[in-house]
Amino acid sequence: MPAGDLPIWKGRSTRAGEFMSTATLSEGSGQQARESQWAVETHGLTKRFGENVAVNGVELLIPRGCAFGYLGPNGAGKTTLIRVLLGLTHADAGTMSLLGYAVPRHRDAALARVGAIVDEPRFHGHLTGRQNLQLLAAARERAARDRIDPSLERVGILHRADDRVSKYSMGMRQRLGVAACLIGDPQLLILDEPMNGLDPAGMQDMREMILSLVAEGRTVVLSSHLLDEVERTCDAVAIVDRGNVIRQGPISELLAGASLVLEVDCSDPDRARALVAATAIGAADGAEATVEPTGLGVTLPAGTGLDVVAEVNRVLVDGGISVYRLQVVQASLESWFLQVTSRLGESP
Ligand SMILES: Nc1ncnc2c1ncn2[C@@H]1O[C@H](COP(=O)(O)OP(=O)(O)O)[C@@H](O)[C@H]1O
Ligand SMILES: [Mg+2]
Repeated sequence: MPAGDLPIWKGRSTRAGEFMSTATLSEGSGQQARESQWAVETHGLTKRFGENVAVNGVELLIPRGCAFGYLGPNGAGKTTLIRVLLGLTHADAGTMSLLGYAVPRHRDAALARVGAIVDEPRFHGHLTGRQNLQLLAAARERAARDRIDPSLERVGILHRADDRVSKYSMGMRQRLGVAACLIGDPQLLILDEPMNGLDPAGMQDMREMILSLVAEGRTVVLSSHLLDEVERTCDAVAIVDRGNVIRQGPISELLAGASLVLEVDCSDPDRARALVAATAIGAADGAEATVEPTGLGVTLPAGTGLDVVAEVNRVLVDGGISVYRLQVVQASLESWFLQVTSRLGESP
């Protein structure tokens, strides 16, 4: 594609940390928005900083009504992708749409239905939580003012609404950030690392808040470097590494591509390992029998059926091994993530 054809565009000069809740509502941006099943759709989305490709040809299809995790290590390009989606920085190439509205063309219509927190939520510390929301609501449609108290209640800080934000904990600021999104009654929330700076109880609250927003039919897209959090909070995920989306889809489907691990507590782990290794099961591609502190460990390739688990048990018992406990360990997203990235490492 010649450079002249690239949809290069400039966003408003909104600084990071600001809430995207100031767009004015403009209707009539086409049938397409109502029909699109995707909350976020990108094709070939690319953002470079000099030689550094922070977002590299990203193809994303995020269905409506789910919690979607954009998961990757620090520096993977998560914040940059979000900033590009919100028009806080321009894309070098590619196309995108939010809630079916092509952006930047229908950006105002799209952002009127989007609430976002990029980086840490920033507020005026000398003003109260309610006053901060009043400022944001003043730039929106009338109904936003009426949503201030319900939003504060919704995120559980109505009782602190008249305290100065400088007295708020990090968790309360995060909640106020979500309340700031909610005054726009968004169909789509985009949260950049919403668990950052929260203690375990705060994370739990945030997770429940996200799930309840999804239960109302909203779509929540969150970025995170915390595999565990994404696994617990999200229905679907895209795994991103150095600007590239490596995999995406429902977590359950991704895990179906992960290998299975058997933990076997038995009388003679060394001999048990040798017995399993000598069978067709142990010799299969992707299979491995190892001696672990907990006993025998057997890794089985993706898609292995439970009949194979029974066969491992039979091999051991027939070989005179006493099996005390045999457990199939469901591969977590983390182990799957490590499998994917190590495979990539082997064949770049
Ligand atoms: N404004 C910027 N100028 C130059 N490089 C940047 C800028 N913002 C981000 N980067 C670089 O882009 C890459 C992705 O950064 P970022 O999107 O912040 O990652 P993440 O949010 O996943 O931690 C990093 O290599 C980072 O150094
Ligand atoms: Mg980031």
